[in-house]
Amino acid sequence: MLILKKIFQIRGDETITLASNQNAESNSTKGSSVIHHHDILIIGGGLTGLRAALQISDADLDVVVISKVHPLRSHSVAAQGGMNASLGNIPGEDGSIDSWETHAYDTVKGSDYLADQNAVSIMCREAPTTVLELEHMGMVWSRLDNGKIAQRPFGGAGFPRTCYAADRTGHNALNTLYEHVMDCNIPIYEEFFVTSLVHDNGRCVGCTAIEIMTGRVHGFVAKAILMATGGFGRIFSKSTNALINNGDGQAIALRAGVPLKDMEFIQFHPTTLYGTNILMSEGARGEGGILVNRDGERFMKHYAPKSIDLAPRDVVARAIEMEIAEGRGYEGGYVHLDLRHLGADKIMERLPGIRQIAIDFAGVDPIIDPIPIQPGQHYSMGGIDADINGVTLLTGFYAAGECACISVHGANRLGGNSLLETVVFGRLIADKIIEDISDIPKPEVELVENAVQEIDTRIEQILERTGGKHLFIIIDSMKHTMFNKFGIFRDSQRMKGGLSEIKKLQDQVSQVSINNKDRAVNQALIRLLELENMLLLAEVVAYGAINREESRGSHTRTDYPKRDDKRFLNHTITLIQDGKINISNKPVNLGMFELKERVY
Ligand code: FUM
Repeated sequence: MLILKKIFQIRGDETITLASNQNAESNSTKGSSVIHHHDILIIGGGLTGLRAALQISDADLDVVVISKVHPLRSHSVAAQGGMNASLGNIPGEDGSIDSWETHAYDTVKGSDYLADQNAVSIMCREAPTTVLELEHMGMVWSRLDNGKIAQRPFGGAGFPRTCYAADRTGHNALNTLYEHVMDCNIPIYEEFFVTSLVHDNGRCVGCTAIEIMTGRVHGFVAKAILMATGGFGRIFSKSTNALINNGDGQAIALRAGVPLKDMEFIQFHPTTLYGTNILMSEGARGEGGILVNRDGERFMKHYAPKSIDLAPRDVVARAIEMEIAEGRGYEGGYVHLDLRHLGADKIMERLPGIRQIAIDFAGVDPIIDPIPIQPGQHYSMGGIDADINGVTLLTGFYAAGECACISVHGANRLGGNSLLETVVFGRLIADKIIEDISDIPKPEVELVENAVQEIDTRIEQILERTGGKHLFIIIDSMKHTMFNKFGIFRDSQRMKGGLSEIKKLQDQVSQVSINNKDRAVNQALIRLLELENMLLLAEVVAYGAINREESRGSHTRTDYPKRDDKRFLNHTITLIQDGKINISNKPVNLGMFELKERVY
């Protein structure tokens, strides 16, 4: 069991100082900008970022976290259902006990064989230790009657494997890590919006960021940067993602010459609340909830006779879309998630969060009535191309968590594997950075200073613009185009139309002006910079999806309905070359499990 020495030693009465004050000695000011010097920067204050920060701080290295929002507002906090680990606390139906190998098999099968099997093995082997480590840090898990950590069934899993804290698992995990980050006095640059990576001769030397409160551009000189900024779900109109999930990290990396991987694979969660698309956890079906169409039929038995409601997400999301398309849904496009037979006690004990959300946002109490649900965008399987050590093409630049594609999820992620990935790879990649850091020389400050000036000038130019389309009209058009043209079912004609709409929006965004000309707390400016990032990623998703002429996992082509291992058992790699998107591919790491048709 790994023990973080600081977590168990530092307690107390120290007060947390703002990062920028705390590091005043290492800061320098030039004009209106500030330059900071740190050994290791972590961009992103979610589970991956905080877990990595703790590990690095424990090695007594100079580490700081930069986050667009207060860390407790990171999207990790919204994760509901749980974290997979083969603890084996509940035996399978035949009395057998779960193992990391079975977890790995389920994950690879769930991924439609696109996940890298070496990466999956690491994640699944590390899972039990990771859950126990969080427990030892003080995280509150739900319990079985015998006192062991409770586990529930989740889609595509051969055993009840998902450890949970009612339906607030991410909330408990993030608060636990944040408390330790406070204890360890790790500086956090809060509400800093990162605008670019600074690099030189294939080496990352820092980044630039806007301090949202003042509008000042800061430069960060660093030996190593870990990108941990989460997903980009907000490029779609119906999404469970927080408003902050704009893919800033992926877009910034791509512009710095770092490839993205498998960006066409977008997960649509089957059960999001009709009207707002807030997540209704898979844990609801794990606890015995069922999906029912307008005829009162439990329709999943036709699509996944063995797993029924607990088939993987791609299978269930497609089934719901089919039911709705064939007229067996309700007007407006939804079906029912019925929990009533679970009884009030179980609903209130295990699913209190989604009950409250259903009451507050749909006026439906799941104890009394079924919940109206429809599929919505939930997760991005693709991201920054990184190997099992989080290493990318740019020396000193690492990536982990949802913004990265280490490829543990392939073409379709299993529920409960995302929280797991964040904490496992947050720790392991931090170890790699700790190992590498002594060999990395201290970067020169000039490049970062120049980059700060460039961003500063760019902001001036944006603020001087007049006219152009309204920012939010472009945001809306992008989201609807992505959901309608690159949704659950895709075909060449629709996608090509979608791609040209995205390109038109990119032209329009370069003309957008904003009314607020102040630098301080200029939210419109931040939204505009986010939109530029989102439109870049939308284009990458579009090219990847058009290029992949097969159906695999979440990527369902009505014009190519079969998986094509001959042509497409490979990762999509995207780069910008000569200002244009360039697509190539890269082999998948196989070896542990042989390829099979996925049947549930
Ligand atoms: O349905 C859920 O609770 C989501 C879990 C996940 O995305 O892993």
